[in-house]
Amino acid sequence: MSYFKIDSLEQYFKHYNKSIREPRKFWGKIAEENFTWYQYWDKVVDFNMADAEVKWFVDAKVNITKNCIDRHLAKKGEKTAIIFEPNDPSEEALHISYNELYERVSKMANVLREQGISKGDRVCIYLPMIPELAVSVLACARIGAIHSVVFAGFSASAVASRINDSECKMVITSDGGYRGNKTIDLKGIIDDALENCPTVTSVLVAKRTNAEIKMKAGRDQWLAPLLDKAINNSVAEIMDAEDPLFILYTSGSTGKPKGMVHTTAGYMVYTAYTFKNVFNYEENDIFWCTADIGWITGHSYILYGPLLNGATTVIFEGIPSYPDFSRFWETIEKHKVTQFYTAPTAIRALAKENLSYVQKFPLKSLKVIGSVGEPINEEAWHWYNDHVGGKRCPVVDTWWQTETGGIMIAPLAFITPTKPTYATLPLPGIQPVLMDDKRNEIEGNQVDGSLCIKFPWPGIARTIWGDHQRYKDTYFSAFPGKYFTGDGALRDEVGYYRITGRVDDVVIVSGHNLGTAPIEDAINEHPAVAESAIVGFPHDIKGNALYGYVILKESGEYRDRDNLIKEINQHVSDHIGPIAKLDKIQFVTGLPKTRSGKIMRRILRKIAEGDYSNFGDITTLLNPEIVDEIVKGKIV
Ligand code: WTA
Repeated sequence: MSYFKIDSLEQYFKHYNKSIREPRKFWGKIAEENFTWYQYWDKVVDFNMADAEVKWFVDAKVNITKNCIDRHLAKKGEKTAIIFEPNDPSEEALHISYNELYERVSKMANVLREQGISKGDRVCIYLPMIPELAVSVLACARIGAIHSVVFAGFSASAVASRINDSECKMVITSDGGYRGNKTIDLKGIIDDALENCPTVTSVLVAKRTNAEIKMKAGRDQWLAPLLDKAINNSVAEIMDAEDPLFILYTSGSTGKPKGMVHTTAGYMVYTAYTFKNVFNYEENDIFWCTADIGWITGHSYILYGPLLNGATTVIFEGIPSYPDFSRFWETIEKHKVTQFYTAPTAIRALAKENLSYVQKFPLKSLKVIGSVGEPINEEAWHWYNDHVGGKRCPVVDTWWQTETGGIMIAPLAFITPTKPTYATLPLPGIQPVLMDDKRNEIEGNQVDGSLCIKFPWPGIARTIWGDHQRYKDTYFSAFPGKYFTGDGALRDEVGYYRITGRVDDVVIVSGHNLGTAPIEDAINEHPAVAESAIVGFPHDIKGNALYGYVILKESGEYRDRDNLIKEINQHVSDHIGPIAKLDKIQFVTGLPKTRSGKIMRRILRKIAEGDYSNFGDITTLLNPEIVDEIVKGKIV
C-alpha cells in the first residue's frame, strides 16, 4: 500500500491513524517510494522536543534539485515547469520546460561555483518575481549553498540586518523590479544595504528594467554574460538529510527577525506530500500560487512542492490591481490555471471592486481554490467560493507557518468537507493540541486554547540561525515538550480547527507577519520620540492594521503633528519597509504600565479596536489615570 496520495475521507482517517501510531513506517514509506536518494537513512526520525532537537531521515544523502528537476527529464523533459507571467500583460509570457530549467539551473550553479560559492555558504537573494529568482534558489540548492531569500519590499536596513545575521558572502539582485506602474530600484537598495555588510564580497545583477545603475568595480557583475559562458549541465552536490537548505527570516514578537533554518530531506518530503494532497494535484494541472517567493508560501508552493511533483507552476511578477482588478482572473483564463492559491487580504480587496471584473471570465479551468496567511472571514470565504470557485471548487483554507515548512491543517480538496472559516483537519503526521493557561491539554470538542503540536513532522524548522537557545525559548518552552505555534484556535463539535489569530505580539497585516517590537524600535529612533507601543486593530481589507501610541520627548520643535506622523512612518519604512507603516498614530503622555514596568498591551489593543467595555482591573496599574486620557484621544 502506498501512502503518498489520499483518495477518500475513509482513507484519510486510515492514513492519519497510521501516521500517529507508526510515524516511522508512514514517513519512511513515503520517502522511500517517491524520491531519489543517494543513500537511505538509518533512522526515520530522532528527536527530543524538550531540547528542540529534531532530525528526519538521519544520515540519508540526497539533493533536492535532483528530485525537483533531473528525475523528471526522462519522461517529461519538454513539459513546462514554469510559466512566467510578467507584470505587464502585453509582454509575452515565458514557458520554461523541465529541460530548459535543468540547463538554466546548471549554468547558474556553475556561475556560483566559479564565483567561489560552495556548500554551506550563505547567498542572499533579493530579486523581483522573475525566472532568475527561481533559478537562483534552485542553483544554490544544487551546489549546497544555503539560500536566504529576502522579499524585495524590505528596506536597505532590513536587508542589511538579514545579510549580516547569516553572514552572506554573495547577493543576487537585479537592476530593478516592476510593480504595477511603478519601478523599484532594487540595486540602489542593495548598494545602501551593503555599506554595512562586510561579509558580502560579490553581487550578481540580473537585468530586468534596464535602469541606469551603478556597478561597483571588483564587487558587482552582470549575471547574463557570466551565464552565457557557463556550461549547461552540472553535478549536484551530495547533501546530508539534515544539511540546511535555506534560511528564511520571519518576525518575532521581540527583537531582531528570526532566521528560520529548514533542512533538506524532511522539507522535501513534506512539501511534496502536502502539495499533492491538499491541492489534489494531478498530471497536467497548472498550479498558481500568487505569493512572493520571498515568503515561505512561495518557497514551498511556487517552487519546491510543485517542482517535486513535476508540476507546472506559475510565477507572477505583477499585482492584482494592475492594469485593472481583473488581472488575477484574466491570468487564470489565459493559462488555464487549475489550482489557484492566494491570501484573504487579496480576496477582500478584490471583493470590494465591481463584480464584473471577475464575472467577465468563466474560470472553468479552476478545480481548487486555496487561502493562506491569515484567518479568512466568512464574507470573504463566500465571495471566493461563489464568484471565483463558482461553488464547484473546494476552498482549501490552509493553516501553517514559516516555521512549519508546509501546510499543517487544511481540507484535502474533494475529500474533506469544507466549512467556512475553518482550516478543518490536521494532515497525516500532524498532532495538534489545544492548551489552557495552566499548560494543561484541553480534551474534547467545542473548546478553544493555544495551539500546539505534540509530535515532530518532517517539515519543521530545525533551529534559528545562530541562536538555538532562542529557537528553544520561542517554540518549546511555553508548553514544555510541545511546539507552540503562537496562534489561538478552537475545535468544533466534529474536531475541525478554526484558527482565531495570534496570541503573541505579532500582527498579521495584509498577510505579512509583523513583530511589534522592531517597529517600536524604529519609531523610537526618531529624535522627537521618547517611547511607543504598537498594536493591531481590525481592518476591512488588510485583516489587521497598525495603531501606534507615541510619547514625545519634551520638545517644542514638533508642533506640526501631521508632518511628524509622516516622518515617523518614513522611519518605519526606512527601517523595515513600507508594509510596516502605521495606519493611525496617537500622541499620548504615557502608556498604561504594570508596576514592574510592562506595557499593558491588552488595554491598548482594546482601545485601538474601539472596545471600551471591559479593561479588566486597572487599579493595579502604575498609572491608571492614563487609560482615560488615551480613550479620549483615540484616533477614529
Ligand atoms: C497565520 C504563512 C488563519 C497564523 C504560511 C500563522 C493563518 C501565521 C492561516 C504564519 C490560515 C497562516 N488561517 N491564520 N489559513 N495561515 N495564518 O509564517 O497566525 O508568514 O501563525 O506563514 O499566519 O505566517 P507565515
